[in-house]
Amino acid sequence: MTDSPFAARLSRMSESATAAVFRRVAELRAQGVELISLSVGEPDFDPPAHVGEAMKRAIDAGLTRYTEVAGMAALRRAIAADSLARRGFEHGPDSIVVSAGAKHALFNLAQALFDHGDEVIVPLPAWGTYAEQVRLCGATPKLLPCRAEDGFLLQPQALAEALGERTKALILCSPCNPTGAAYGRAELEALAQVLRPHRAFVIIDEIYAGLTYDGFEQQSLLTVAPDLGDRIIIVDGVSKRYAMTGYRVGWLLASPAIARACEAIQSQCTTSITAPAQVAAQAALEGPQDAVEAMRAQFERRRKRVLEGLTAIAGLRVQPPRGAFYAFVDVRELAARGPAFGDDLAIARHLLDKARVAVVPGSAFDAPGYLRLSFAASDAELEQALERIGDALA
Ligand SMILES: Cc1ncc(COP(=O)(O)O)c(C=O)c1O
Repeated sequence: MTDSPFAARLSRMSESATAAVFRRVAELRAQGVELISLSVGEPDFDPPAHVGEAMKRAIDAGLTRYTEVAGMAALRRAIAADSLARRGFEHGPDSIVVSAGAKHALFNLAQALFDHGDEVIVPLPAWGTYAEQVRLCGATPKLLPCRAEDGFLLQPQALAEALGERTKALILCSPCNPTGAAYGRAELEALAQVLRPHRAFVIIDEIYAGLTYDGFEQQSLLTVAPDLGDRIIIVDGVSKRYAMTGYRVGWLLASPAIARACEAIQSQCTTSITAPAQVAAQAALEGPQDAVEAMRAQFERRRKRVLEGLTAIAGLRVQPPRGAFYAFVDVRELAARGPAFGDDLAIARHLLDKARVAVVPGSAFDAPGYLRLSFAASDAELEQALERIGDALA
């Protein structure tokens, strides 16, 4: 036994970097410091009203027991119908497992698929959770940096070079947190072409699906390459599209064999997720969708304003994101200005101390030299934040 009381697996992974920023924001606010947080990864809107009402009705009707581990049959039918409408691919209820958020669905998948010796390709910049979950399983994340010049999209050639005997899976996120990059039809076709001769699974995180801008049309690899069917695993949920982060409902769509494996793992940790939250998620999927479009339109408007504001600040460079609700800002030019601007971590600290604006350093996404700013904040907050960032960097 070693001196540490903790399991060795804990030393292989680190805590969520965004969680560390949230903790610092909470500490400062508790000390009475007024600050604007552009570090959040959740919509600042309320869920559609009928969602909460459905949840209340479920409680009143006594829906307070365990449900099927994989999720209530009615919710899985609603998920299948939603996915068929959006992706043109039909999954049976035995291909769906409902979990406590997309993050939990990814965790079950990692536990079910990744072993010591496996490699999992993660294009960068990426949400840190992918690589940490891979490491937790004793597998190795193969981190593939994507270039800003390529719109932060994984290039077929880079994928071809990274795929090998030990590759168990590729994890794609589209639209992507933190870059907002999203794959169009031709881009997915090119990746599918490379993937076809290999056996690797493709896990696609589509949690930001539907939140795309400037007329960009969301595409799914499942629609573009249905022949890869059993190897494609979709992860999705209600957190972003319906502003339901606190309800904790997400899911995966996969082959029945993978779904069963994930269900078995979930049966030994959470059993089913909260029953009334499942009813709320069903109401979100089956109810009117106008609130989703209204939220998307607000994000599109704010995105335009934030891009204008950031571009006007000397030393910052930013590309228009195709989707999600983040601006991923290149701050490498600022590094020449002195120690306070040494790297993205120093610049994020400087903005917190001097501008009282919280942002997430790109290092949290394995992309030093960048900052992630969320535009899931009110117009007034965004205006003030832009002004204060401009002053702090002047
Ligand atoms: C890319 C990505 N996937 C998944 C999630 C988690 O979603 P959920 O709330 O459904 O667990 C997030 C949350 O920030 C995310 O950014």
